[in-house]
Amino acid sequence: MSGPYLTPESIYFGQPTPVGFIGSLLLLAICCMLFADMKNTWTEVDEYFGDLLAPRDELLDAALEANEKAGLPAIGVSRLQGKFLFLLVKILQARRVLEIGTLGGYSTIWMARALPAGGQVVTLEVDPKHAEVARENLGRAGMLERVDLRLGRALTTLADLHAAGAGPFDLVFIDADKENNPGYLEWAMKLARPGTVIVVDNVVRDGRVIDAGTSDLDLLGTRRMAEMMAAHPRLSATAMQTVGAKGYDGFALAMVTE
Ligand code: SAH
Ligand code: DHB
Ligand code: MG
Repeated sequence: MSGPYLTPESIYFGQPTPVGFIGSLLLLAICCMLFADMKNTWTEVDEYFGDLLAPRDELLDAALEANEKAGLPAIGVSRLQGKFLFLLVKILQARRVLEIGTLGGYSTIWMARALPAGGQVVTLEVDPKHAEVARENLGRAGMLERVDLRLGRALTTLADLHAAGAGPFDLVFIDADKENNPGYLEWAMKLARPGTVIVVDNVVRDGRVIDAGTSDLDLLGTRRMAEMMAAHPRLSATAMQTVGAKGYDGFALAMVTE
């Protein structure tokens, strides 16, 4: 174990020999390079399919530009994910869509575009600046009349919607503060009917979701939400891992049964 070789032992057990240490660093560097390369590939594949199946259009690009200009974080769905939401609305023939977490309205525009005449997206946002940018983006995209944008903490605006007899919604897209995912799932169930589909974004987070000992409130919220989906007698659910321009993440998809 003292030769000038990179042995498994020197890697796994970090022997305090110069060769073992340098070897470990080398391995780490190689892993980082391979990972960066994979991420480039994910992004290039997103671009390949994106250009084919969800080609750039002026109004969606303008929304992304306006988000950036206003300093909003670039954490919205990718264009292929936007197209996925668009197709879900079409497949479900959804007329009433509920979105929790608007940001600049990029995902909202995708879903609103798929609605039939008379359809509506109710979208909930807590940040007045995000809501203002979203309103501009939705207006420019000609979607404002199909969208009911409600400012406030979603747990509050959801209770208000329920009290006012809103719904049932055909599709619910949960994409706000992950800490409150359990509460959002509960409200989604109250605003649903048999057949309603619930999509929850960002449930994988580079794989961190499997950390059972985590103290991260977002991860705890998502894990609790997944356990609720599993235990709920009126839900049938799955989770899909995704890679792409936005990294390694995934979404949960559930249907209300009965
Ligand atoms: N669906 C958007 C991205 C949403 S990002 C898209 O794909 O384009 C998450 C958004 O949730 C942010 O704008 C954030 O301000 C909002 N948010 C965070 N906590 C919230 C809360 N308690 N109530 C409502 N919105 C919240
Ligand atoms: C992030 C991405 C999201 O889609 C989201 O809803 C929240 C955060 C992120 O990449 O940090
Ligand atoms: Mg998201």
